[in-house]
Amino acid sequence: MRVIKILDTTLRDGEQSAGVNLNTNEKREIAKQLVRLGVDAIEAGFPIASPGDFQAVKTIAEEVKGATIVGFARATKGDIDAVYEAIKHAEQARIHLFIATSPIHMKYKLRKSPEEVVEIAVEMVKYAKKYFQEIQFSAEDAGRSDLEFLARITKEVIDAGAKIINIPDTVGYMMPREYGYMFKYLKEKVPNSHKALFSAHCHDDLGLAVANTLAAIENGVDQVEGTINGIGERAGNAALEEVAVALYTRKDYYQATTNMNLEQIARSSKLISKLTGMIVPGNKAIVGANAFAHESGIHQDGVLKERTTYEIIRPELVGYSSNKLVLGKHSGRHAFKERLMALGYALSDEQINIAFQKFKELTMKKKEIFDDDLLMIIDEQQFKQNAFELEYFHISGDNSISTAMLRIKLPNGESKEEAAHGEGLVDSVYNTIDRISGIHLKLKDYQIKSEGYGRDAVGSVHVKVEYNGELYNGRGMSTNVIEASAKAYIDALNRIYVKHGLTHQELKKQEISS
Ligand code: KIV
Ligand code: ZN
Repeated sequence: MRVIKILDTTLRDGEQSAGVNLNTNEKREIAKQLVRLGVDAIEAGFPIASPGDFQAVKTIAEEVKGATIVGFARATKGDIDAVYEAIKHAEQARIHLFIATSPIHMKYKLRKSPEEVVEIAVEMVKYAKKYFQEIQFSAEDAGRSDLEFLARITKEVIDAGAKIINIPDTVGYMMPREYGYMFKYLKEKVPNSHKALFSAHCHDDLGLAVANTLAAIENGVDQVEGTINGIGERAGNAALEEVAVALYTRKDYYQATTNMNLEQIARSSKLISKLTGMIVPGNKAIVGANAFAHESGIHQDGVLKERTTYEIIRPELVGYSSNKLVLGKHSGRHAFKERLMALGYALSDEQINIAFQKFKELTMKKKEIFDDDLLMIIDEQQFKQNAFELEYFHISGDNSISTAMLRIKLPNGESKEEAAHGEGLVDSVYNTIDRISGIHLKLKDYQIKSEGYGRDAVGSVHVKVEYNGELYNGRGMSTNVIEASAKAYIDALNRIYVKHGLTHQELKKQEISS
């Protein structure tokens, strides 16, 4: 059976989703999970984009083993140099460089003639060759490019040293038959096509990203690109879990497989949803909460008699049976550590001690501890960016007029206490945080859901706030939903603080002048 290589771009194209901003620790954790998931290549980011992006790609290249680490670059020397500096220590490194090839992009965006575009592409592939053995070239907006021109540039960049040719449907415009045909055409018409692998990269603007990716597979593509949960620019990218499970379920049709460890899908999906704040819709294929729920009586009856009457995928196949009751208040440190290891967390003794203390505190509030609860504890510990930190809170009033009193540790280490009113509990908490930080954030979205089961389940809050015209995510978890709400807002504040690398005073000044 053919093995289709998987390039995961959750950390690059996925991070381009509006309002998603991951810190380096979160990116490293996602990259490690992607290795467990068995993807072949991880596109870790766009190093030239900002010092934060550079640092995150470098950290992943140095610390995450078991997959090729890919750095993204425009066709310029500066971008290529930055990728080299960021990923030179990776176990296996690849540069992914791109230039647009569609008439619209060449004329209006690049303001270059097709000849000039070919010249730049060839020159930059040759330049990248001095650093990299593996060069992936993308013809941006290939979907709307002239096929003959695509064939020409493909031949030239392969001659120059490109080993992987990516044909992206950048704006999600293609229909499956058209997109599949592009690969057939290029493989047949480009004389040196056998010297390179071909890759598919689809966007979901017309809801066809997965269908187009599968069409490319039918037409001989060697690698497919996408993200977990299908997150990404605008309507997102092809959802890799859907592609992999489609290939598995219909191997009779595709005669193709991947190296993905399907049992890690549920966990990858949850982790990425949690860290990006992009909530997975209940009806989403494979990873939505209802993907395996049979609601109608006729269906339930059928499934009870014979599962396959209405179920084409076993939930266990994609890891949906693991959220079982694992520990309780009598569980010891050893059992706790073992469970964390089974979940893939190798923590130091000191980290285990802190996490175990949190676990014990949680058992006072909650009788049953699930995997999701353990992940919350680790999450809080690993990803905390404690520039601002909630120390104490008290609320009074009802849902119309309420007052909150909070004490927050500031980035300079001092604690500050304030109170404020609001229309409802959460509003009063957010007004108080604004008063303490001196920065007014616009709340654009607020979502709350439970992690795990039961009335004492942990509440998880996601917020989107606007600062200086940009959107930032924040998340917080607690058995107390008001505390979770406060933590989520403070988390967003911390992301702004870390991203801008500014002092608290500078942030305030920036906000005033904006
Ligand atoms: O969609 C796209 O074209 C991309 C790159 C591969 C250029 O994300
Ligand atoms: Zn893309």
